Amino acid sequence: MRLHVAEHPLITHKLTVLRDKNTPSSVFRSLATELVTLLTYEATRDVRVETVSIETPVTTTEGVTLSHPKPLVVPILRAGLGMLDGMVALLPSAEVGFLGMVRNEETLQPSTYAERLPNDLTGRQCFVLDPMLATGGSLVAAINFLFQRGATDVTAICLLGAPEGVAAVEAATEGKNVTLVLGALDERLNEHGYIVPGLGDAGDRLYGTV
Ligand code: PRP
Ligand code: URA
Repeated sequence: MRLHVAEHPLITHKLTVLRDKNTPSSVFRSLATELVTLLTYEATRDVRVETVSIETPVTTTEGVTLSHPKPLVVPILRAGLGMLDGMVALLPSAEVGFLGMVRNEETLQPSTYAERLPNDLTGRQCFVLDPMLATGGSLVAAINFLFQRGATDVTAICLLGAPEGVAAVEAATEGKNVTLVLGALDERLNEHGYIVPGLGDAGDRLYGTV
């Protein structure tokens, strides 16, 4: 597994506002979008492209275009949906599939309640979006799901990660082509499985408590 933790003052600044418990949902949503766009730039460094020939007004030259099949972006509902706009702003021709997962807050085990993905992901580059990597249970389940469908290459973008979650993803994906891109690597999990210092419940911060 490759791990990339963003180190950029603009990302840290935006994360600081996101972490602040007084930041309202409207601001939280737009900041999450901006942060994902910045992280997408790093996460797509190895996106597959192919050479194309074009004519400029001056001459013929070669450039690149995204390869087929196009990348698949997979937000993990609910909170991952708040990251989708920021990603497709840079990858407008990507296809989008959905995984709905919720963590049981007593056992911290994830369960899947929705899935809308192509049956065959052979050869697809997949990008998973989930703002929080806590115990890693949800992300490991999502990545395994994509590999079972034939994906060979998965990049996950998370706004915040805990060391425990990073270790869990690393252990569960040994030998597989997995990249983890984090906005920040936080200190630890607390006794309730929340990231410290974190930002609280990302889904609630984005959409309110339901
Ligand atoms: C949050 C978050 C991740 C998961 C992380 O989702 O968006 O999916 O928890 O925790 P883990 O690493 O310990 O699995 P949650 O289950 O709260 O669902 P939601 O997106 O519907 O709020
Ligand atoms: N899920 C969240 O939304 N926040 C955390 O800190 C941990 C899991």
